[in-house]
Amino acid sequence: MCGIFGYVGKNNAVAIVIEGLKKLEYRGYDSAGIAGLKDGEIVFCKEVGKISVLEKVLLEKKTVLDLAIAHTRWATHGIPSENNAHPHFDMNRSLALVHNGIIENYAELKAQLSAEGVVFQSDTDTEVIANVIAKYYRGNLPEAVNAALPLLKGAYAIALVHKDHPGKIIAVANQSPIVIGVSQGEVFISSDTHALASGTRDVIFLSDNEIGVISTDKIEIFNCHNEQIEKQTETLKYSGEEVSKGDYEHFTLKEIFEQPQTIRNACSSRLMEEYGTSFFEGLAEHLADLHTVERILILACGTSWHAGFVASYLIEEYARIPVQVEISSEFRYKNAIVAQNTLVIAISQSGETADTIAAVRELKRAKAAKILSISNVQGSTLARESDFTIFLHAGPEIGVCSTKAFTSQLVILSLFALQLARMRHMNIEEGRQFLEALKKIPDQVSSILKQADSIAQIAKKYAQYNNFFFLGRQYMYPTCLEGALKLKEISYINAVGYPAGEMKHGPIALINEECPTVALCTNHKTFDKIVSNLMEVKARKGPILAIIDESQEKVSAIVDDVIRIPQTIDSLAPILTTIVTQLLAYFIAHELGAEIDQPKNLAKSVTVE
Ligand code: M6R
Repeated sequence: MCGIFGYVGKNNAVAIVIEGLKKLEYRGYDSAGIAGLKDGEIVFCKEVGKISVLEKVLLEKKTVLDLAIAHTRWATHGIPSENNAHPHFDMNRSLALVHNGIIENYAELKAQLSAEGVVFQSDTDTEVIANVIAKYYRGNLPEAVNAALPLLKGAYAIALVHKDHPGKIIAVANQSPIVIGVSQGEVFISSDTHALASGTRDVIFLSDNEIGVISTDKIEIFNCHNEQIEKQTETLKYSGEEVSKGDYEHFTLKEIFEQPQTIRNACSSRLMEEYGTSFFEGLAEHLADLHTVERILILACGTSWHAGFVASYLIEEYARIPVQVEISSEFRYKNAIVAQNTLVIAISQSGETADTIAAVRELKRAKAAKILSISNVQGSTLARESDFTIFLHAGPEIGVCSTKAFTSQLVILSLFALQLARMRHMNIEEGRQFLEALKKIPDQVSSILKQADSIAQIAKKYAQYNNFFFLGRQYMYPTCLEGALKLKEISYINAVGYPAGEMKHGPIALINEECPTVALCTNHKTFDKIVSNLMEVKARKGPILAIIDESQEKVSAIVDDVIRIPQTIDSLAPILTTIVTQLLAYFIAHELGAEIDQPKNLAKSVTVE
């Protein structure tokens, strides 16, 4: 995790890197720091807490620099403290370095350097990198970095400044992104393209083990043999995306309320109503004929994994293609068997999740399958490494808990399932009916959002509990997992999503007056079954809050509270039901006074294993 931003140019580097860092705060917010050069010496400042704390101190000190590297941290090695905050230095304070990623063999390297007389100030793996580079430094900085890199095991991105090299930033990427943004008389470096937004759209992506030597007048890139290489500048599309909270108290609430529009965006130009199917521009040219796909392997983490899990029900039901859904971090080390004619779908809102990217790289190395990715971020690492990417067009998602990206992922996956189905067993009329149901979803979401006040009232009552079950069957099972994750991550309440039919195989032992169940009852095919499961909960005095649709009555008599939503088909019900679980989690967290947009211990983009 962690975010890196750097600047060299005609303007005050301090103000620019602070603005850049704020856009990277989603990558971690345990501490922040900045380093630059002035009169041949390293100048730095680091503070525990959010970037605003660092910003305040820098403003008070009136710090001005024409070059700076900056960092926002998500702690891996060492507690969040000023000592462990970046930048870190070599023992002689010749260089200052910021780092994203993990050096897996840092303990061995640290022991070796300590034996050689290096004294360390922090608990971090980053300080080890600074000292390894210093050990090999003989006046040529890229050569010293190149000598150090083979010793560092792991995935990382680095930026550093050295007091013998005024006006220069050195940047390195190894399985962790660094993008260089080029503009007239100024150059930026960043962990992602989104943070460059207002600076420039002309970029160079560093590939693994390339070293960028960056100054205002030139950018030199060296390979691992110390040879200078040419890299193409790419021009990113400027999306003009808006990132303010507007009138909302939190980004999370704003993003929940954006969903009627983001769902429309996900559908835009992708519906072929006349043919009862969907269309993704460019897809056919990049992927082998979708007619020959015999298996689908979905890779993702967290909320994106839940979207993939919903999709497995959809694709199997409609297209009759077997789907395997894997958590990327597990799949990587599984020695998995990938059968011929498998299509891999990698899902990641950020496109920067380390485990998903690593799993995709493994598959590509083995030439195991074509990779289709679904992401929200153009120019993200995952998008660049996939054979084809379908973008969510949901706009930046700033709240750490994923809301609008999830529903957009569901829309795209259902359109993709429809396309596969129409190539196989589904007739045109069935396809048209599916699209009719999908077209109603944005307005149905709006009508649920209108119930926000009454959901907030219900949330007040449920905020007093410490443990929750989310129960559902079929499409509602992965939807339960997502509902429980939302509650956990923003309100810090323990919540477990469970298939309702499995409760009697153990977890029902936990049901009592103190443990409420959020019952997701909008799957028609299994409605009677979940009613029976709720009777079992009721018999053990468990409070029940049910989410049901307008067509369902039976459950009202046995539950304590009900939230009604518009009726749709089972395969699209996860979208509507999730709007309720998002609002519920939001209002419970709000009631408890929790930090909603940036929950403790989390980061939006998980760029370490
Ligand atoms: O960017 P990604 O979709 O790859 O992120 C995956 C997870 O880290 C993410 O969904 C996480 O679980 C969210 N905080 C959930 O709200």
